[in-house]
Amino acid sequence: MGRRPARRRVVRRVAVWYLFRDAVTELFPFRHIIPTHQGRAAEKILFSVVGGPGKFVPNNTHFDTTRANVESTGAEAVDLVIAEGRDPRSRHPFKGNLDVDALEAFVRRVGAENVPVVMVTVTNNSGGGQPVSLANLRAVREVCTRYGLALFLDSCRFAENAWFIREREEGQGDRDVADIVRDMAALADGMTMSAKKDPWPISGAVGLQRRRPGRGVPERAHPHRGLPHLRGPGRP
Ligand SMILES: Cc1ncc(COP(=O)(O)O)c(C=O)c1O
Repeated sequence: MGRRPARRRVVRRVAVWYLFRDAVTELFPFRHIIPTHQGRAAEKILFSVVGGPGKFVPNNTHFDTTRANVESTGAEAVDLVIAEGRDPRSRHPFKGNLDVDALEAFVRRVGAENVPVVMVTVTNNSGGGQPVSLANLRAVREVCTRYGLALFLDSCRFAENAWFIREREEGQGDRDVADIVRDMAALADGMTMSAKKDPWPISGAVGLQRRRPGRGVPERAHPHRGLPHLRGPGRP
């Protein structure tokens, strides 16, 4: 008798996990989704696997927890937002864009083997919540492909970013915001997500398209957070 409520709770949590996974993959169709309680837990898991001394993680601008999680492994967090992103008077429509030339020069200088992931934060919250264009994401993708680098999104305010793309980017005005989000996701090899911002209750996730460079990420999540289907993003 006494065990029934506990079993019901487990069943409910398993059901929530599937709801969460399906909601995330509808927009971010990554092969592996690892739920966490917040974005910072996703970052901790990812960077404790791919970070380490001698590694460098470029980003448009690291959020403070992202920087802390990169640097606590001994790696260096490097901000490469475009110059307009640092100029409060600039009216550039996408002040969160990553400086693609600076990225390429940086990768050449430190060596691609020392750059485990390139991050792009959408929107660029620590730079005033400024959006990143689809054209910029495509250009960053090209650099990553040329140098064999993985591109990860910090997809904290992804819906807002997609909305700005629809409002401001040429040729995007008639599109569904969800389709723009899927285009953003399709350019990435993975993501960390703070899911409490746009659509979902407080939660987070690591998404991986392939196990490389995230080999070991699901295993690292287990001791911190338990099994995925018992972890869940929150209570039903
Ligand atoms: C860009 C960005 N990344 C990561 C985080 C951390 O996520 P969380 O607060 O869910 O731990 C935040 C939170 O505000 C954020 O804005």
